[in-house]
Amino acid sequence: KPYDQSGVWRYREFVLDIEEDSIVTLPEGRTNLYKKVVDGMEVYFKHEGENPTGSFKDRGMTVGVTVAKKLGFKITACASTGNTSASLSSYSAHAGLKSVVFIPKGKVAFGKLSQALSYGANVLEIASDFDYAMKLVEEASYEYKLYLLNSLNPLRLEGQKTIIINTLEELNFNVPDWIILPGGNLGNTSAFGKALKELYEFHFIDKIPRLAVIQAEGASPFYNAFKNDFKTFEPMKAETIATAIRIGNPVNYEKAVQSIKFTNGVVESVTDDEILEAKKDIDNLGIGCEPSSASTLAGLRKLRKNGIIKKSDTVILILTGNILKDPDTSISLHTGKIKNVPIENRFFEIITLKDLEN
Ligand code: F0G
Repeated sequence: KPYDQSGVWRYREFVLDIEEDSIVTLPEGRTNLYKKVVDGMEVYFKHEGENPTGSFKDRGMTVGVTVAKKLGFKITACASTGNTSASLSSYSAHAGLKSVVFIPKGKVAFGKLSQALSYGANVLEIASDFDYAMKLVEEASYEYKLYLLNSLNPLRLEGQKTIIINTLEELNFNVPDWIILPGGNLGNTSAFGKALKELYEFHFIDKIPRLAVIQAEGASPFYNAFKNDFKTFEPMKAETIATAIRIGNPVNYEKAVQSIKFTNGVVESVTDDEILEAKKDIDNLGIGCEPSSASTLAGLRKLRKNGIIKKSDTVILILTGNILKDPDTSISLHTGKIKNVPIENRFFEIITLKDLEN
């Protein structure tokens, strides 16, 4: 049965009590944990970009769409910076449901937009940002019979908890010092805290790893609140090259605060240049990821520089999205490497293969 192959439903006791034949799965959650040396430090990359639609969203969507179908909904909906729309439209089509996605015009990476269109979503391009699209889809789901599957739907978070359960199982429940993840709408931050709390309460782990949530400087309302001991929260107008996390008013703020407090976590912010530099390095390892995922390595660098993370610490970086999601950014980042070969020239005169050999 497909759900036996799923790295989400494998942990179904932690996820959702539902009869197995109603499960909608592709199956998802069979992602790799890579051990690499970066900046002289051993780190683990958990590559959630290896999910069926290329992002961690599939772990939540299998649960959400299963329930949408079970409840008899015919139409699913979300607002999205791209990945949620790709995942929602794929799982909905798989389940025979229609989907509607609200996306910020001109701010969704091409890989993601092409997925949503290909899987048959009704795409509504909103002439504003994600936060406004989020407000619209919430209103629409009260007015129409839409099943809303943004991460404010707690079922999504129940599925995304398995990123943590799965990673810790791969480490034989040897608890790392740090888990570093990007923060946008703060669904993962919330889900990770809940997963750790449950694993601790059921004695799967005997200590709690610290979460480090990384935001892009231009989209960092959670970081600003953290600096202020979470006494105040100010939404902001978001701007960053990491379009997946271009979010100024995260819907899971309150839950995410609990996760940081429970794990004695930290929140850091990094510039777009730091994100791109980190992406280049992750790409060059042969792993690759989309820009927002690379914020994890940029954040690790900053936290090491500030002395918060030590070289000897065990660190897991969560790569949330696949390298193919945002080809435009990859090409503009690496375009200098392309060598043009005019037909009258022998290629080795240009690349100098001799240099490569040495
Ligand atoms: N990384 C990627 C690749 C994402 O697509 C997202 C969110 C995040 C990180 C942030 O995760 O919201 O749990 O803090 N993407 C959403 C979307 C908003 O619509 O695809 P978060």
